[in-house]
Amino acid sequence: MPDKQRKILVTSALPYVNGSPHMGHMIEYIQTDIWVRFQKLRGHNCIYVCASDAHGTPIMLKARELGITPEQLTEGFSKEFIADFDDFGIEFDNFHTTHSPENEAVVGTIYSALRESGDIYTRTIEQSYDEKEGMFLPDRFVRGTCPRCKTEDQYGDACENCGATYSPEDLIDPVSVLSGTTPVTRESEHYFFKLSEYEERLRNWMSDATLDKNVVAKLDEWFEAGLRDWDISRDAPYFGFQIPGTEDKYFYVWLDAPVGYIASFRNLCDRDGSLNFDDYWSEGSDAEVYHFIGKDIMYFHTLFWPAVLHGAGFRTPTSVYAHGFLTINGQKMSKSRGTFIKARTYLDNLNPQFLRYYYAAKLGPTIEDIDLNFEDFIARVNSDLVGKLINIASRCAGFISKRFDGQLSDSIPDPALFAEFAEVSEIIAQHFERREFSKAMRQVMALADKANRYIDENKPWVTIKDENRSDEVQLVCTQGLNMFRSLMVYLTPVIPAVAEGARAFLGEESWCWKDASTPLLGTKINKFKPLLTRVEAEHVQALVLQSQESTSVPKDDSNDDDMISIDDFMKVDLRIARIEKAEPVEDADKLLALTLNVGDSTRNVFAGIKAAYDPESLVGRHVIVVANLAPRKMRFGVSEGMVLAAGPGGEDIFLLSPDDGAKAGMRVK
Ligand code: MSP
Ligand code: ZN
Repeated sequence: MPDKQRKILVTSALPYVNGSPHMGHMIEYIQTDIWVRFQKLRGHNCIYVCASDAHGTPIMLKARELGITPEQLTEGFSKEFIADFDDFGIEFDNFHTTHSPENEAVVGTIYSALRESGDIYTRTIEQSYDEKEGMFLPDRFVRGTCPRCKTEDQYGDACENCGATYSPEDLIDPVSVLSGTTPVTRESEHYFFKLSEYEERLRNWMSDATLDKNVVAKLDEWFEAGLRDWDISRDAPYFGFQIPGTEDKYFYVWLDAPVGYIASFRNLCDRDGSLNFDDYWSEGSDAEVYHFIGKDIMYFHTLFWPAVLHGAGFRTPTSVYAHGFLTINGQKMSKSRGTFIKARTYLDNLNPQFLRYYYAAKLGPTIEDIDLNFEDFIARVNSDLVGKLINIASRCAGFISKRFDGQLSDSIPDPALFAEFAEVSEIIAQHFERREFSKAMRQVMALADKANRYIDENKPWVTIKDENRSDEVQLVCTQGLNMFRSLMVYLTPVIPAVAEGARAFLGEESWCWKDASTPLLGTKINKFKPLLTRVEAEHVQALVLQSQESTSVPKDDSNDDDMISIDDFMKVDLRIARIEKAEPVEDADKLLALTLNVGDSTRNVFAGIKAAYDPESLVGRHVIVVANLAPRKMRFGVSEGMVLAAGPGGEDIFLLSPDDGAKAGMRVK
């Protein structure tokens, strides 16, 4: 049985608003929203807050680059997040921002408490400084040659080639990403939080917090390595909160970001008189507090955050729930493959309920990555949701509406079967509670199979032809609809919009978890409208295509996914080639077959330039060819390279040719 009413506060990580929401973000907000909706359906007092994370260097610099204020930049992206959350059915009780008076006030309270408890000290450190830009450079804004393996153009904190970690001052030939100048090393006074003194308290917290074993393993690793004090200040110019009592020091964004959880709740309390702030956040509070986060930000949430709360006299989180990262078709999201998918592009093409179900079917309590595979997506949505679930209702509803004026019978003919649907109620509830969503979905779909089998066996479409057996049809369909109803109650947290349609169809005002265990009898239902339609492969294709298009616009180059490194570029072997032969290709109206002399060898290359060039005019010309392109088998033969040309296409296409004097085989520099 559901226990007594619990007081629960839930958060999702605060999205960093320097870009648009994407499919990876949605894992987290969908996971949290399902869990929160589940708690509410169980009758608990559950509050879900979030906010925009609106401070820090990347936001400051991006705004500067666009010639707008950081406020304008973050408000714009916050609006996108809010609109997308809304359309995906993410229902926050409050969505605020870290750039708010409430947050500044709580940050101030925490900071002065930490000063008083002796947890803050200052120390002079050396840091890279860009004299041209007049600012200290975060590690990621310095690039140079790795001191260990000598690979060029590495970030200031770690080498992507050999994995070495270091500080920007260690780089050979460091360069500021902002100005291209060589940074100098400058001293500056920084504020530190004594994390090193919190090991024991953190270990105690960790053993109470029922963390996933992967998270515990990470924490053990960090304890093993030794906790280092945390640098919580940044020098001006910085977009954030000024440290009280200083002129040019700001709180590091990661200090004020988690405080945003508290501030968003405070903002909600200020509007909702029934909520008492201290009930939730004072030490000894009997409320439960859970943070849902991605695995990349565990350090901040399982070390810094509980320690800061502890030191400042606030309660610590009941637990921190971390999830894995999104992969698409088994790979990291990638702009060039069209799998860097913005949440909005998904919404433009597909029903958000599908994604909620798909993620639920994949989610568990671990930090394992979650793969969105489009074939699997189409198959699961169509077979589970449409083929199994909705099908139960569509097979029964028509008979009840047309033959019995929408009236359900007063009893069900197979109470033992219905009892099977009711009995698993607590098992499914436990799966939800433990974030074993995939197990819950499997359980529900196994029951859906059972319901369909029942209908197959009882064949109401046959019985209906026998006038003497019409009662039987009403009973069988009432049984079928009640099984459908129980499953829909269980799925309410996952596909709330579909569940709402089902509830309205069944003529009910509201549902709670317990309703799944008692049948709906003797009432009138409404006419059945299809609650979901199948996913069509074309819509998924359109999604991928639009993702390629929308990200190939150079404007949004914030994500370095779009960029290739100089190393990538150096892989392209460009050579001068002399066209020895050029002729049309039979059955191909756009292609010419070219025989190219590239110095040491001859290549056959197909080029789509027939509309622009007369083959004869090409013989003897020098062009540029990608010489190390993997051979590609085409309908007409194998193409062993690619000739470079520019232009929109058709007649307007122009071969790139070198100046006189260039010879076949020369490398392009
Ligand atoms: N602003 C910080 C969080 C501060 S919380 C006090 C941040 N923002 S974020 O926008 O980068 O990410 C928000 C959440 O989405 C994080 O929990 C992050 O792990 C998650 N995800 C972002 N990209 C993701 C994927 N590609 N896949 C799964 N989750 C991802 O971190
Ligand atoms: Zn290296």
